[in-house]
Amino acid sequence: MPKTEKIHYLKEYQPPAYRVSHVDMDADLRPGACTISTSLYMEPAPGTRQKEPVFLDGTDLQPEEILLDGKKVPRNEYRLSRQGLTLENPPGRPFVLKTKVTIEPEKNSDLMGLYRTGGVWCTQCEPEGFRRITFMLDRPDNMATYRVRLEADREMAPVLLSNGNLVEKADLEKNRHHAIWEDPHPKPTYLFAMVGGKLEMIRDEFITKSGKNVELAIYCEPGKKKKCAYAMGALKRAMKWDEKRFGREYDLETFNVVAVSDFNFGAMENKSLNIFNDKYILADPDSATDMDYYNIERIVAHEYFHNWTGNRITCRDWFQLCLKEGLTVYRDQEFTSDMRSRATKRISDARNLMAFQFAEDKGPLAHPPRPDRYVQINNLYTSTVYEKGAEIVRMLATLLGEEQFARGMELYFRRHDGQATTIESWIKVFQDSSGRDLSQFARWYVQAGTPEVFASGFWDENSNTYMLHLKQVNKPTPGQDSKLPLCIPLKFALLNARGKEMTIEKVSGGTVEGDVIILDKSEIELVFSGIGQRPVLSLLRQFSAPIALANGQTREEKIFLATHDGDPFNRWQAGQDMAMEMMTRAIRNNRDYCQNDVDELAAAIRNTLKSRHHDDEFKALTLLLPSEKAIAMALREDINPGQIHELRQKLQILISRKLQDMLLEILERPRITTGHSQNIKQVQERSLRNRCLMLLVAQNEKSMIRMARKQYENCDNMSDRMGALGAMVMGSHENSLPLLEDFRQKYKDDPLVHDKYLALVAQIPDRICLDKITEIYESRDFPLTNPNRVRALIGGFAAGNPAQFTRRDGAGFELVARVIGDIDPINPQVAASLLEAFGPFG
Ligand code: ARG
Ligand code: ZN
Repeated sequence: MPKTEKIHYLKEYQPPAYRVSHVDMDADLRPGACTISTSLYMEPAPGTRQKEPVFLDGTDLQPEEILLDGKKVPRNEYRLSRQGLTLENPPGRPFVLKTKVTIEPEKNSDLMGLYRTGGVWCTQCEPEGFRRITFMLDRPDNMATYRVRLEADREMAPVLLSNGNLVEKADLEKNRHHAIWEDPHPKPTYLFAMVGGKLEMIRDEFITKSGKNVELAIYCEPGKKKKCAYAMGALKRAMKWDEKRFGREYDLETFNVVAVSDFNFGAMENKSLNIFNDKYILADPDSATDMDYYNIERIVAHEYFHNWTGNRITCRDWFQLCLKEGLTVYRDQEFTSDMRSRATKRISDARNLMAFQFAEDKGPLAHPPRPDRYVQINNLYTSTVYEKGAEIVRMLATLLGEEQFARGMELYFRRHDGQATTIESWIKVFQDSSGRDLSQFARWYVQAGTPEVFASGFWDENSNTYMLHLKQVNKPTPGQDSKLPLCIPLKFALLNARGKEMTIEKVSGGTVEGDVIILDKSEIELVFSGIGQRPVLSLLRQFSAPIALANGQTREEKIFLATHDGDPFNRWQAGQDMAMEMMTRAIRNNRDYCQNDVDELAAAIRNTLKSRHHDDEFKALTLLLPSEKAIAMALREDINPGQIHELRQKLQILISRKLQDMLLEILERPRITTGHSQNIKQVQERSLRNRCLMLLVAQNEKSMIRMARKQYENCDNMSDRMGALGAMVMGSHENSLPLLEDFRQKYKDDPLVHDKYLALVAQIPDRICLDKITEIYESRDFPLTNPNRVRALIGGFAAGNPAQFTRRDGAGFELVARVIGDIDPINPQVAASLLEAFGPFG
């Protein structure tokens, strides 16, 4: 694995000396070997010196032919290495360079470049896969038009797809056929895609706001097309939404999606030919949970939104990755908020950010959203780039306000359409459109780490003033010893004794714009006047900035917020803080919970469960204790995952006992509707019911177990089945084994459901977990080559079962290390993703 590898620096960026404006590719697909002939239409960039050599990326490619304007290039005029091809004496004028190579997709097990999955030829080029298919300037700042001819056997690959428009499809001799695709939109190599194989499909159409007809198709492996309908609906909703919310219309006549079963990550936004891990396309009520549906909708939308934020406007270099990813995640978050519940979407995004991105910031690999160096670009597809990148866009929207932000987005699309650009120009757009100086704000992109904000308030009853002292601390991270203060937008309210927001008449000492405090110095002291009663501060409403807040509030104030705060995020967070404080105290002092604390926490939760103002999903989130990982991070030192697991489980049981009447009442309530649908009310209801069941089964009592078993047997959808089975595995693993086996039997022919089985086995909170995993892993039919299977079983264990993973005897570590060793030669990216688990607990 790690040789001494080169470090790439942003400051060394140089535009290419030659440009490729058009690519004409001919792909002859045959089992065993594919021949790729490519003509690159090249020209020297303005200012390029005569005779400057041309370097073309090409990883381990052996050219069978190199022609320059149709003439063979003599052997002494080019150099070959494992990285590519250098032309020593290129003409100082436009020319066409043609190369021919033969590659073997069946041997490609790391699933980058052209590979074969379930008999289907398929590509993944982002970030640097194209260079494994043919010689080319494989960098995002070279945008070219493409013409691609694919040829294959008619039976073996009736479907032949690439980007853009189909211009010809014809039968050839010897039972072969070909298809020619042209993409008129210039694009970088990483957005190239081609697919050939036996696939079935569903079709639909979308009429854009200006009346253009777009043909939509989703392709999948034979027998699976019944499961594509939900994804198609999601695609159409995303197309509509992008027109309404961002004024973005689709720009070609076809939009194709292909779902394959071997894929390294979620999905890929190739121009007009999105390729998906089929886990994020296929769904029906019997095989997919509500969480699966949620992910499908979100990821289908994300890839579609890339058409404007990523494809038409792309990144100049990979340091700018968050230009497209942060923005597109922001857009998909907004879409989900509009389709579902804004309040709970915000809470789950914040919860994930605090778990994964904050952990990255704490670790040795902490990096800014726009890094200035990398070794392996593949390892930069991180939560910091994606999710923190999205938070920065959200803060920008908060600072500028809806209207100014929309105006900036308009200008961004107008000014940079067709370009490969940078974070600097992104910031400049908003600076120009709003007239606001954003230079301090831009530090968010280049400073790593989670800012800590300390707040303390004091109400002076004599002068009717409320003083709020705010301080930000930006601790050093590896490679960044000193940091400057950031511009942090803090949404807030001062609540009166009934939980109502006070009106604020006068503030001094800092900037407050509407309901946003702008913390732009290391410390500020705000003075609110005309505050006639003691307020309770609700700070960081809607999680308005990706910071760690220490608000110094008393337990009484937390209880008050958990019971009264009208901001769902803060109301939820206050409850989490209470629970977290109890758990960390119990662990640190090695003491039991104090009954009074439990009663107070339960009372606050009960209040929310009874409230008519909150949806069922919010209630379900309120019933969810901070994760074991979050507890470990809060403790910082002396982490004993086994103890964390036990104490968290114990608190669940105490809460469950305390709220038993309510939990049972919720489960006994008639459902709002019968039959399964993705109606949001129904989804939220299932979520709440299954959380209640989980808590009840945690008591490990006969009647509760019976209830779960009954639900497992009688339910009509996968969410309820997994809800029941998951509750059993977590709360009563000794009784769950026969059910687990029943589940395995029932769904052994559906690989995506089988992954759910694997993930559940990986979660068993007992020593037998490791034996079972080892047995499955060592069985002959466990496919090391499929990323979904490996991640469900091994990733699920390493990331989701810290107590067993870190077992005292080291057997958990040993197994995962062994798997990483086995997988690395097959697929280093999957191996690297398993390695991440060693972070917080390793
Ligand atoms: N651009 C794709 C997306 O965000 C993901 C590509 C991931 N690539 C990688 N090397 N990890 O949807
Ligand atoms: Zn993306």
